[in-house]
Formats: sequence, C-alpha cells, structure tokens
Amino acid sequence: MNLKKRTKTLAGLCLLAGGLAAQNVCVSTPRTSLLLKAPVGGELEILYYGQKLADADLAALETDGGMGAAYPAYGMNSLGETALAVQQADGNLTLQLVVEDVSSTEAENSSETVVRLKDTLYPFYVDVCYRAYKDVDVIEAWTEITNEGKKPVTLHQFASACLPIRRGQVWMSHLHGSWANEARLAQEPLTAGMKVIANRDGVRNAQTDHAEVMFSLDGRPRENEGRVIGAALCYGGNYKLRVDTRDDECHHFFAGINEENSAYVLEGGETFVTPELALTYSNEGLSGASRSFHRWGRAYKLAHGERLRKILLNSWEGVYFGINQEGMEQMMADIASMGGELFVMDDGWFGDKYPRDNDTSSLGDWVVDKRKLPRGIEGLLADAKKHGIKFGIWVEPEMTNRISELYEQHPDWIVKAPGRDPVQGRGGTQLVLDLSNPDVQDYVFGVVDELMTKYPEIDYIKWDANMSILNHGSQYLPADRQSHLFIEYHRGLEQVCQRLRAKYPDLAIQACASGGGRANWGILPYFDEFWVSDNTDALQRIYMQWGTSYFFPAMAMASHISAAPNHQTSRVVPLKYRIDVAMSGRLGMEIQPKHMTDAEKELCRKAIAEYKTIRPVVQLGDIYRLLSPYDHLGAASLMYVAPEKDKAVFFWWKTEHFYNQHLPRVPMRGLQADKLYKVHELNRIDTQPLPCEGKVFSGAFLMANGLELPYNHRVNTPSAYASRVLYLEEVE
Ligand code: GLA
Repeated sequence: MNLKKRTKTLAGLCLLAGGLAAQNVCVSTPRTSLLLKAPVGGELEILYYGQKLADADLAALETDGGMGAAYPAYGMNSLGETALAVQQADGNLTLQLVVEDVSSTEAENSSETVVRLKDTLYPFYVDVCYRAYKDVDVIEAWTEITNEGKKPVTLHQFASACLPIRRGQVWMSHLHGSWANEARLAQEPLTAGMKVIANRDGVRNAQTDHAEVMFSLDGRPRENEGRVIGAALCYGGNYKLRVDTRDDECHHFFAGINEENSAYVLEGGETFVTPELALTYSNEGLSGASRSFHRWGRAYKLAHGERLRKILLNSWEGVYFGINQEGMEQMMADIASMGGELFVMDDGWFGDKYPRDNDTSSLGDWVVDKRKLPRGIEGLLADAKKHGIKFGIWVEPEMTNRISELYEQHPDWIVKAPGRDPVQGRGGTQLVLDLSNPDVQDYVFGVVDELMTKYPEIDYIKWDANMSILNHGSQYLPADRQSHLFIEYHRGLEQVCQRLRAKYPDLAIQACASGGGRANWGILPYFDEFWVSDNTDALQRIYMQWGTSYFFPAMAMASHISAAPNHQTSRVVPLKYRIDVAMSGRLGMEIQPKHMTDAEKELCRKAIAEYKTIRPVVQLGDIYRLLSPYDHLGAASLMYVAPEKDKAVFFWWKTEHFYNQHLPRVPMRGLQADKLYKVHELNRIDTQPLPCEGKVFSGAFLMANGLELPYNHRVNTPSAYASRVLYLEEVE
C-alpha cells in the first residue's frame, strides 16, 4: 500500500497562542463541528463534537481542556481502553504518539484533514484522518498506520477512531438479532464499565449485532427530539465497538476491526488503512441522525444511490429449489401482468454432475442444470424480453460444497485449519472459499464475469453468502500470517467487488447473507441493496425494518410481499397489510403468484401502480419515524417526506389488536408548516373512504395533531390487522 501524497498546510486551522506550537483543528459539516487540539509535539485530543460552532465559541473553546485522546495508544500512561497497541520487532510494547503536522485537502464535496502522529522512539506513524462533507452532516474518521522502520511491527489493536462522549444521561441504541430476526432494536443507558459489541463471523457481520450505534445524549432515546451522535463502521468483516466508562467525565467510544485472532504483521514500509467510521450528530433525535446517514449513504456510499429500484418478483419462497423453464416463465408472466419490472431466479438453477436440488451440493458449479432449464439462461432472457421485464439471477460465489465439481478440482481453495477436517456449514457440506488467495479472487470474479459476458442482458445479481468462517485457517497464507485471514478475506472480497464494479458499473447487485447478514456500509458501495431478512412475516418485518432504518435508507432495504400463512412464522396476515409493510421499503414480491386469487393479484397490481407514484418519496425522501413498534402502544408509524416537502407518504400499521382499544393519534413530522397538503389513501380496501380522504390540511395541523384513523377496516370480511398508507401532496 502506498502512502498518500499530502499537501502540508496550516491554512484554515485555528492557531493557539502560547505553549507548544499549539493549534486547534476544526473539522466542520453544514451543521456539525469536530474540534481537535493538535499541539505539535504533544498529544492529539478531541475538544468537542456536536452542533456547529460559531466563531465566538471556537475562540472560547480554544483554551479549553480536551475531552480525551483522539487516538490513544497503549503502553505509556494508558490505563483506559486504547485504540492502538503494537509490538516492535525488539519486543517493545509501548507507543508514545505526538503530533507531527496537520494537513488538509479540498475536494468538491468534502475536505480531508490529516493529523500526522509520530512515535517519539520508533519510525512509526499514524495519520488520523477526517473527511467532512460539505452537503451532509457526516464526518468519516479513520487512520493510516505506517511502519517506516526496516523490521516488521505487529499490530495487536488497530481501531478506526475514538470519540469521547460527555457523560450525563447517555443511552445507546443498537441492533441485535439472529437469523430470521435481524436488526431488533436494543436501547440501554450507558453505565460504568465496558460495553462491547463485537462480531467474529468472518464472512458476514450483521446477522446478530450491527456495526452501527446511536448515542442519545439527553436520556431515554427519542425519535424526533434530543441530541444524538450516530456512528457507523464502514466494514464488512469482524468488528468491535467498545464504550469504556471509567472515572472521568466522558464515555470513550472506540470502533474498528475486531483484533481478536487477527494480529497483523506490518512490514517495513507498509501502511495499514483502517475502515472508516462515519459519525453524525443531530439535535432532531434518532430520526434526524438517520436522515443524515441516509443522505450520506445515497450520495457517497451505496451503489446507484440516486437510481430508483425496480419492483421485482423473487422465486425463492414461490418454488424454492423447484426451478424449471415453464415455472419461471409463468412467474415472469405473472409479475409482468401485475406491473412488476424484474424477475429474479433464486437458488436451484445450476449444477451438472451434481444438480442443485437442495442445499447439500453444487455451490461452485455455476453451469445451468439442463434438466430444469433446457433452453438455458438464453431461454429465460427471451421469456423476460417477451414479457417486457428484466431478468436477474442468484449466485453464491464465495462458497462451495463438499459435493461439487469445484471442490473436487480445488480442495486447496477452501478455508480450513491445517491438519484438520473442516467444520461444514449449511446442508452439512458447505465450505467457504479462501478469498485471501488471488486465484480464488479470480475465480469469484469469474463467476459473475462469465455470466455477464455470456448474458449481458442480466440486469440484477442476488449475491448470497450463507456460511461463516467456522475453520480458522488459510491454505494460502503462510504459517506466520494465519492471523491475517479475516482481514485478507475482506480485502480479497473488496478487490473482487472493485473489479466487478469497474467492468459492470450499471449492474444491480443485492447483498444477501442468509437474510440480513450483510447490511453494513463496508459492502454497500458495491451493492445496491440488501435482503433485510429471510423472515418475510409482515408483522415481524415492521420491527426489523424499523431497526434497519436507523442506519440504512429504504431504497436499500429489500422488502417483499410473501404468502399467508407466512413460511417462517406461520402467521396469517391479510394481503393488504403485507403490501403496506413491503411498500415502506424497496418493494418486491416473494410468492407463488399462481396460488393467488384474481382479487389478490388485482390488489397487488394496484399497489405496484401506486408504489410507482410514491417510489421517489420512499426511496429518495427523508424518513421521520413517528411511533415505535418497540414502545408497544398498539401501532407503529413512520413517514417519508420529499426533500422539497411537497409530497409525503405516511405509513401506519396496527401491531396489536384488542377490543375497545385506544390507540394514540400520530402527529406527523417533516412537513412544511405553511404548506397545504391534500390527503389520499393508497391501497384502499374499505368500502367507504376515510373521513380525511381528499381533504386539505396545513402542514402545521398535520404536525401538531396527525389524522384520526379508524382502528379497523370497513370490509366484508374483517381481520385483526389494520394498516393505512396515506399520500400527501401539496396543493396551492
Ligand atoms: C439464503 C437467502 C435466501 C435464499 C436462499 C437460497 O437463505 O437468504 O433468500 O436465496 O439462501 O438458498
């Protein structure tokens, strides 16, 4: 890795008088500031992070004491948690990092500030880097660690960044879950001691805990009020988030790669670049922080963040492995007739010597199973064309099965501990390919490249990853670099993704990993969206999508209408409700349309048409979460508002059903008080319109009071589930 060229400049920095050659460095976005104390020859400290500082505040704060070190290193006066711990070739375990210089560079939409720290004894450098955006309130923080000595240095700890957070009534919101129950919101006050959120899956990192958190600074978290700091680690591999609360005035927050079993040998002349930690601050509650993450994500991270997503049907829950030509064509015809735009053929289409009829074989053998698809992919593409829709396909390129031609040819390509039989994953036979090996990288790239070269009309790839690293061992890395496996795996994956994106910039790619295992900002620059969960139950999805929306925009959250009874929970939820939940994300279908009645298909056809109207608001608008399902008040509600505030979509779902129930009325948010909005209910099933239908209200009224919504639907066959989607459009 090369050292970056840096422009050494002190311009734009606030210089301090007296003392060491002291200088304060202010890094700002439109509404936030991060203030650093960077005295040359002294320690780099954080003075402040929060609402944007006025010049007077800046001047006043210049002499203030720091909140804590910006990048504490281990070994010298370091009793608390540290960001960096290394061992020099001579055995020395200590570092003493002091500021050498500060430089800054300007780009069109951001400015980058680099504080170079140098160890006082060894030629060992840490560039503490901050990228501040000019149009969105996010600062990315990371480090570049360089060994300029001749002998290797071992990195035992290498966080991306550290942020002190003033103590008070700080609560932490984070996501926790499991397969089919991803992204459950957990909220708790920070107390004395350590809070650690870590992942060691190796391949995916969002199935259980997430690499993103929010800190509410004013007590119990609120969606639309209070000061919030949000932090998202942009990394797809093992991570560790730590909050250290000891006997001083701050909680000390650290985020970075999980160093456990990952000691990294940094050669002389090598630079180790840590993943970015994206930070945001809002005084508009959790929803305010989410809006900043979404805007930043769409503008600077997510693949095709400006492009509206197609409405699709995925074959998985419709036919599972039961793929055949006629069945695929029938599904294409059905989704086309309902107004959908894309059909995605899921697992089960491949394998020659070992056909993929279940999950015990064939991963790696990416050739069409001619028994099932005698006309091949060509035939499917021709059918898609005939029905006027696009075609997408499922692959799981990082994996193989013990029963596969690939494994027979390349047993040395799997992740496996030396001398041991591998623990096998899904189907009792699944194995992970060793992406630290450049040959494997070429092969994984080739899986997609070959498909796209042969069939350039493929519009969408669903890229799955259904196994963790259960065997720590690389057959490629040398014995003294085995601890690099987790890091090299993700470097290899990123290389592959970069090559694919360079060659196929327009292709839509979904990140799936047994459901929501890859919802993270490290992977999303190469992916358009992720599968939120293998659980498609509408009621449970409200909870999972609520949590997911803390950090990820609706356009990235694949959200599908599925069958009743639901395949995971067996819950019978009416179609209207399933539609209303799916429409709050990136709408799709995951169902066998041939089992739907004509009336159900008609309801979906209407919903798809209505979704096309609201798609820009849902996918590109600002989220305001209104009533949390986690508050158990009987309903949940959120809305999206177009940036111009001329359109909005309000979602309301009942989450409990009792007789004589008293549900809260939900004030709206994000509208413009002096604008007038006409209300129109979407996906209406009631025999009579809502009292508010077609009426015009001021933004001020809607935000103060919300609208009265009946608790049930007026329909011939009532059900326990009620939901509403309201479209608000500005009128003159
Ligand atoms: C994983 C995915 C599912 C589906 C199956 C196919 O479980 O999450 O959506 O693609 O694999 O085997």
